[in-house]
Amino acid sequence: MFSLNGVFMKDKLIIFDTTLRDGEQSPGASMTRDEKVRIARALERLRVDIIEAGFPAASPGDFESVQAVANVIKDSTVCGLARALDKDIDRAGEALKGAKQSRIHTFIATSPIHMQMKLQMTPEQVIEHAVRAVKRARQYTDDVEFSPEDAGRSDEDFLCRILEAVINAGARTLNIPDTVGYSVPQQFGATIANLIQRIPNADKAIFSVHCHNDLGLAVANSLAAVMNGARQVECTINGLGERAGNASLEEIVMAVRTRHDVFDCQTRIDTREILTCSKLVSSITGFPVQPNKAIVGANAFAHEAGIHQDGVLKSRETYEIMRAEDVGWSANRMVLGKHSGRNAFKSRVIELGFEFASEAELNDAFSRFKQLADKKHEIFDEDLQMLILEAGFEAED
Ligand code: KIV
Ligand code: ZN
Repeated sequence: MFSLNGVFMKDKLIIFDTTLRDGEQSPGASMTRDEKVRIARALERLRVDIIEAGFPAASPGDFESVQAVANVIKDSTVCGLARALDKDIDRAGEALKGAKQSRIHTFIATSPIHMQMKLQMTPEQVIEHAVRAVKRARQYTDDVEFSPEDAGRSDEDFLCRILEAVINAGARTLNIPDTVGYSVPQQFGATIANLIQRIPNADKAIFSVHCHNDLGLAVANSLAAVMNGARQVECTINGLGERAGNASLEEIVMAVRTRHDVFDCQTRIDTREILTCSKLVSSITGFPVQPNKAIVGANAFAHEAGIHQDGVLKSRETYEIMRAEDVGWSANRMVLGKHSGRNAFKSRVIELGFEFASEAELNDAFSRFKQLADKKHEIFDEDLQMLILEAGFEAED
């Protein structure tokens, strides 16, 4: 298996970010050229390997966005999407001219329903188009990716034929999209393993996956593929993307890092930049991040239950499998509410600069706190200060 520059690197997982292309296809998430450049710079700081900046043939605005991103990004490869059509590939090649490292990603559908109803082509014609597109893209760059769209519902024998043909034509990344989020992990993982095993020239390409979240399985399917030999994952910040979205970058990266005992590969992502990217994408698109979203949700590192708070105060690892600081949060968070215990309450009050003269004073303050917590969702520092002052407890010197 080869990496981007042809070096054998089986343990590297390539992160291909498509926030600016598939993410932008989320209804209501379109971005201006300058917004795309700001996000691309944040993705470069995050150290993603490839930034899919857009679909240059889609509109003059998207052409300009891809061109602008290509001109400023130096440390990530910049990619443009193109249908398997000469005019699309030429537009992508043109938009990417200024890039330090460029990739053209070309695709054509391979499922029976897409070939018959959408393309109205025979399988042989689809193979011819794919081969022609890859050869044309190779005139612009050595780094060409091919996707059989709707691979999740395509016939495996046909996938083997078309993928073998595009490798011979010069494709160096084969991306297997689960376009409509139809796959389930065990079956999708087995498909990847079968393709790698059955395609005679599979060792000349990197296998990639691109999973949609229609059944909420995009991350699980991507990780199953990684366990079966995929070495590129296509994903987006906050899981943004067409319909229910794409696999979320932050979840893929942190799963591979946290469970390195089960994934025999690693990414080059600087995980401390994850939260900044998430906030930037959310503020530019206007798509809020749900509080319980893994890694980047406001509650991802917050503890409210007394038993959990007590455990975390004694040793973080009792209830935390990752460090909040490693993904960009300043710290984990103890939320004081009606489920909180005495220990968490006491530590927060002491952090705020108060001390209890006796156990009885602590008990009294804690029971006032519980009464207040029954009336409010969350008790903030100001509430605590008020409660302590009203009760006449001492502030520390
Ligand atoms: O979901 C999909 O199939 C795509 C392709 C263009 C890769 O986005
Ligand atoms: Zn997609």
